[in-house]
Amino acid sequence: MHPRFDITLNKLREQHSYRECSLPSGLDLSSNDYLGLHDHPVLIRAAHEALEMGVAFGSGGSRLLRGNTAEHEALEQYAAYYHGCEKTLFFANGFMANHALLTSLPNRHDVILYDARVHASSRDGIQASVAKSVRIAHNDLADFADRLQQFRASADIIWIVVESLYSMDGDMAPLQQLYELAQVYQAILIVDEAHASGIWGVNGKGLCEQLCRPETDGAIRMPENLITLHTCGKALGVAGGIVCATATIIDTLINTCRPFIFSTAPPPIQAYMTLKSMELCASEEGARLRQQLKSICVTAQQLFGGHGTQIIPIILGDNQQAIEASTFMQQAGYDIRAIRPPTVPPGTSRLRLSLNVHITPSTLEDIRQLLSQLDTPATFVERSL
Ligand SMILES: Cc1ncc(COP(=O)(O)O)c(C=O)c1O
Repeated sequence: MHPRFDITLNKLREQHSYRECSLPSGLDLSSNDYLGLHDHPVLIRAAHEALEMGVAFGSGGSRLLRGNTAEHEALEQYAAYYHGCEKTLFFANGFMANHALLTSLPNRHDVILYDARVHASSRDGIQASVAKSVRIAHNDLADFADRLQQFRASADIIWIVVESLYSMDGDMAPLQQLYELAQVYQAILIVDEAHASGIWGVNGKGLCEQLCRPETDGAIRMPENLITLHTCGKALGVAGGIVCATATIIDTLINTCRPFIFSTAPPPIQAYMTLKSMELCASEEGARLRQQLKSICVTAQQLFGGHGTQIIPIILGDNQQAIEASTFMQQAGYDIRAIRPPTVPPGTSRLRLSLNVHITPSTLEDIRQLLSQLDTPATFVERSL
């Protein structure tokens, strides 16, 4: 074997950046299964019924060949109604959806302005895109405004790429102001709702719900210059990524997006279960679960600071300190993971507390107590706003 791979792995070990998979053990404080839907009894029953009804678990081909099924179409229609857009497109996962969007829509006459903390899937898509791209300091509206002004005359389309709720910091984007900037400079706003979908916004529709126009029949209508991405493997407990946009944008993706055209369609059972999960989110049970999660978010903020959301960063500093802290927590029975660069900026290695509906106040108090026993003092992030 060429020595390059061992050299790389050894270097990662020396830097305490080496990663390996481990099976879940201990109380879950690290998954994105915020509402506990991945094994919710209603959804388990739905999965059994679906298989008995003959919903297939393999699609057999790409969507444009024989892989398109009634389950895919039903999910996309429901998602369009739910999120108030003309059309949606379902991908196998959120990573693929982000990458696909950003490599297909912007062209070489365009400019992409992206927040410094967007997810790797957006960054990789931006990097692979032929458009010029500019990194904007996190949540810095003045920086966004300056760059919009700078590129308005020369760029064909300016794309603004942000997350509604940031995955490693738990803070929210100033969506209203970003949308106003997009309006002023005729830009298109792309919002990754991965960690807001199912939880935040009316009925868990995501934080972009606030940018939508209410219709007379109680539905909402997304503005034309907004594209949202809803991942289905986090609060929804299944897997997938749904892009919501105008019919023109979705038809453009269907016709030009290589990861859509040249890939086997997601399993019909995945589409079916995602639809069932969205319906559950919209039901009274969904509202009950969201209320439960938000109540534990309030307790967690009192104990650990953060932004009042389900994601709480506890900053340790370097990689080794973060790993030692997570090992300590795991030995105490809590599955809390260390997050290190490149997922977060160097010097901000951390524990990421990820709350779900099964967490109780006494668990959080115990964790607070354990944190005070660490050799390295943990830094809690002050509530912004
Ligand atoms: C903000 C954000 N966007 C996209 C993704 C990718 O979604 P998926 O896990 O469905 O591939 C993630 C995954 O962690 C994420 O945190």
